[in-house]
Amino acid sequence: MIFQLPAPELKNSESLVSCIEARRSVREYTDAPLPISVVSQLLWSAQGVTGLDHKRATPSAGGLYPLRLTILVQRVAELEPGTYEYQADSHSLKLIGGRVSERALKELGIGDQPWLKEAALIIGVAANLGEAVQRFESQPPQGVRGARYVYMEMGALAQNVHLQSTALGVGCVLVAGFDDSKAKKTLRLPLDLEPAALLCIGQR
Ligand SMILES: Cc1cc2nc3c(=O)[nH]c(=O)nc-3n(C[C@H](O)[C@H](O)[C@H](O)COP(=O)(O)O)c2cc1C
Repeated sequence: MIFQLPAPELKNSESLVSCIEARRSVREYTDAPLPISVVSQLLWSAQGVTGLDHKRATPSAGGLYPLRLTILVQRVAELEPGTYEYQADSHSLKLIGGRVSERALKELGIGDQPWLKEAALIIGVAANLGEAVQRFESQPPQGVRGARYVYMEMGALAQNVHLQSTALGVGCVLVAGFDDSKAKKTLRLPLDLEPAALLCIGQR
């Protein structure tokens, strides 16, 4: 099943400077669902197509775009709880699995991180490291440069989502302290993708 997201809003009243100043990691959320417009805006900020040749919101070394988003929906208006893959070209969500239990979400975190189960939405970011490593193999340090580039891109994506969350008044925290094998299973990742980050988002 494919769910078409509403078009993103391209004019924003919040200034970039005020969002940079106001951004904080937010780990406490209310039970209120996120509007679908917020989800649309956040995913567009992360990996939305913004230009010719399928160019996206975040810069990508060599234009490889090795990051893939899996969306764990818990409380979003107009969207069934479940596991979705973001399809950047069509700005849509493809249903790939059921709702992840609160227990499984909690167990993803290293240590006690209740915000994983309390978030209305988690954007799981996974990376195709192999492709990037291979692409930049001729540039030393071999086997390292490609991976380095992928994680730089991951940081740009995360900051876009943080600043967009701030502009929309929703809470966001980046969780990189997670159990890799559990994250692979929960995000339903194929063998060529490695989990890179979990962005927890909810109403404040
Ligand atoms: C690479 C990276 C990994 C992080 N991992 C976690 C995490 O696993 N759990 C968590 O609660 N916060 C995590 N954070 C958020 C940091 O704790 C937070 O950014 C830091 O305390 C500074 O606070 P601020 O974001 O509110 O300015 C991570 C941040 C970064 C950049």
